[in-house]
Amino acid sequence: MGGRDEQDKLIVRSVEGKGKEFERILEERLSRRDFLKAAAVTSGLVVAATAMNADVAAAQTRPAPLPPKFGKVAPTTPEVDEIAVPDGYYAATLIRWGEPIFADAPEFDVWTQTKEKQEKQFGYNCDYVGYFPLPSYTSNNSTRGLLVVNHEYTNPELMFPGYDVENPNPTRTQVDVELAAHGVSVIEVARGRDGRWNVVRNSPYNRRLTGYTPMTVSGPAADHEWMKTNADPTGRNVLGTLNNCAGGKTPWGTVLTAEENFHQYFANLRAMPNSDYRKAIHNRYGMPSGASERRWENFHDRFDIAKEPNEGFRFGWIVEFDPYNPNSVPVKRTALGRFRHEAATIVIAPSGQVVAYSGDDARGEYVYKFVSNGRYNPRNRAANFNLLDDGTLYVARFNADGTGEWLPLKHGFGPLNEGNGFMSQGDVLIKTRNAADALGATKMDRPEDIETNPVNKKVYIILTNNSQRGVGNGPPVDAANPRANNRAGHIIELTEEGNNHAATRFTWNIFILAGLPTDESTYFAGYDKSKVSPIGAPDNIVFDLAGNAWVATDGAASAIKLNDGLFAIPVAGSERGHVQQFFSSVAGSEVCGPEFTPDNRTLFLAIQHPGEGGTFDKPISTWPDRQGLARPSVITIQAFDNRRIGR
Ligand code: FEO
Ligand code: CA
Ligand code: CA
Repeated sequence: MGGRDEQDKLIVRSVEGKGKEFERILEERLSRRDFLKAAAVTSGLVVAATAMNADVAAAQTRPAPLPPKFGKVAPTTPEVDEIAVPDGYYAATLIRWGEPIFADAPEFDVWTQTKEKQEKQFGYNCDYVGYFPLPSYTSNNSTRGLLVVNHEYTNPELMFPGYDVENPNPTRTQVDVELAAHGVSVIEVARGRDGRWNVVRNSPYNRRLTGYTPMTVSGPAADHEWMKTNADPTGRNVLGTLNNCAGGKTPWGTVLTAEENFHQYFANLRAMPNSDYRKAIHNRYGMPSGASERRWENFHDRFDIAKEPNEGFRFGWIVEFDPYNPNSVPVKRTALGRFRHEAATIVIAPSGQVVAYSGDDARGEYVYKFVSNGRYNPRNRAANFNLLDDGTLYVARFNADGTGEWLPLKHGFGPLNEGNGFMSQGDVLIKTRNAADALGATKMDRPEDIETNPVNKKVYIILTNNSQRGVGNGPPVDAANPRANNRAGHIIELTEEGNNHAATRFTWNIFILAGLPTDESTYFAGYDKSKVSPIGAPDNIVFDLAGNAWVATDGAASAIKLNDGLFAIPVAGSERGHVQQFFSSVAGSEVCGPEFTPDNRTLFLAIQHPGEGGTFDKPISTWPDRQGLARPSVITIQAFDNRRIGR
């Protein structure tokens, strides 16, 4: 379309203009730091040169890398409904939406779904996968463990026959099935003598958390006035966790599950008077003005802001629970802030302080980290259980010269005072986004997973995409988000000062600018573009034992017209930036997890929303069983000869 072309030209011109500005800034940085000449500095992508020069400096201090070895798979186009793994590997479906996870649970029957059945079955849209070895988190057992799997959201149009997407009018039964299909599953899994994994259906560890499960609230916002509802005058008891996207593991063997797009379950913000200050906050978090997408408010008053103005404040948190204790009560840890948490991943600082990184996955939102006041005690498990209640939440500011600061979201710091409406630390945390706005944090291109590489200690920040960057009212391009209309996303590599994760200063560079290698705006840490796999919209990241990154994508179909997949990317040595596709997924799906067993011989992937874009009645995917409907599932990938994945 002509309009589209015109828009593209405008974007290119805008990038070129900004490029001159960056070029000047970066040249200054290059000379100051005595890096190599910025040979690759071109138009809008000068930031790549910063990365390239940082690469050279960093490579000199790293141990000899072991890049992944496998025959990369070819990308597939969005109508392809088959998975692909490299030669020498096989994939198997471990568990599907609706499979019973208790001995007394009913078999799945898509035609007779009920809340009670779904509460005993594997939930929908599996995202995070965490492997916790048995019998203990301190073991490295790679043949028996617990899988903790998040169920991020529901696709009622794929779950129920005849569901009206245009004018949703769900039944009470459908809504209650959806609430029960959200949350988290804990399942025991074991690897048999034949090498194959199975779910242990009668395991005492198996558990479902749903939108109904009682949880408590802790930390500075726990007794805040806005946390109190008609059903819970204490502000400390919430039913359920919703939109659990990715997560993390603590060194003391608990799991963190992240409440991401919680706003979408609430309805009717317009009923709240403008004079009510809570309205501005709900608005900042994107609460719908009218009906919600799934219409849960039709049957559950707590999702109707007109009837229950505060319930929304009780979501958007990181929830911690102990998967080894099926009776443990999940806790919403308010000290880690309230936003659309993609995940929360933990690393221990040299001081013993616990550091949790977390991104707010929305366009123009921020990157955060929490640093505990207390120290991790490896000798007393229970002594760590409340470490995440007390500490400092920081938000990141990325400077154009490749440095950055962590700004404390602390009541009384800078503008975070009563004069600006921040009355307490609880207030700062409930309004984390507003507090970060006030501090002048850097607006990012949708922060997704953020993980520390245990080998080189650097922190990798996945920015999945931002079609509004540099366009219209969207934030202008900047050094850390250098592409206008950034459809394919990028990855930032951050080094904490002194490799101390509790530090308040850092340096950063761009590691990958994703997309088609033929697109001149892409950058793969300087690696020869003719040899890399196309990669679009990175989302989740994990590291193998050698420190190579494995990146799963969500949205490649719209970014680069290819199915999502999993990609291995060495971060060090001559192979740094050599993106190789290891797995290709099915029509309409995104790839989540990913998670290795401690020995790296099994890789777990969650295939989320296969067939999204179709309906129950007109499916575009029937993966994995070819029985008329697609079912979100966790799969295992192993080598036929049981070698480590990618070795
Ligand atoms: Fe649920 Fe940000 O992906
Ligand atoms: Ca995600
Ligand atoms: Ca995602």
